[in-house]
Amino acid sequence: MKFFIDTADIDEIRELAVTGLLDGVTTNPSLIAKSGRPLFDVLGEICEAVEGPVSAEVTATNVESMIAEGHKLAQIAKNITVKVPLTWDGLRACRALRAESIQVNITLCFTSAQAILAAKAGASFVSPFIGRLDDISQNGMQLIQDIVQIYRQYPDSIQTEVLVASVRHPLHAVEAAKLGANVITLPPKVLRQMINHPFTDIGLKAFLEDWDKTGQKIIK
Ligand code: G3P
Repeated sequence: MKFFIDTADIDEIRELAVTGLLDGVTTNPSLIAKSGRPLFDVLGEICEAVEGPVSAEVTATNVESMIAEGHKLAQIAKNITVKVPLTWDGLRACRALRAESIQVNITLCFTSAQAILAAKAGASFVSPFIGRLDDISQNGMQLIQDIVQIYRQYPDSIQTEVLVASVRHPLHAVEAAKLGANVITLPPKVLRQMINHPFTDIGLKAFLEDWDKTGQKIIK
């Protein structure tokens, strides 16, 4: 499962990129607004910091303007993936951009029916928002299971990758991996939480204390 990071905070991205664990980045208009910075500056810096796909979302709502915005965003860097919403215009924009070999992430997916449409439109990625479903007492992870199962029925014709989005905690990552999701986009906080276990800290402390008592060094 590929790890994308769901933020437009360039400092966070640079800090986590050094782990070598990041395969890409996702942004959205809310995350850009939260950064408080100009869109093109932020996206340019992110595309330099991370080699993999960087999702940049259009804000137009009609197909012609979405395509025009998609072209402009795609010019930022070769690793830009244009993000469009799961609307009829978004699906049409997806087809048009994909015909030009521009990568497209279809976002705001909340049902399997929508995910089928995203695949039909040739999306590179579909982004089901699991946390927002959990928030209203619907089962976000069940949606991932359903989409993965549906896409697997058509290995020759569906290349769309399932990108698990709206992630809230480390167990979302574990469950998504068990289901065989292609990608998960993690808020920085959740990526950091994934490594935590008190027994790791306690165990390491004990090993180092015992080692110190021997008076030895691996490198003298
Ligand atoms: O980037 C899209 C998605 O991950 C947003 O998540 O936390 O705003 O529901 P959230």
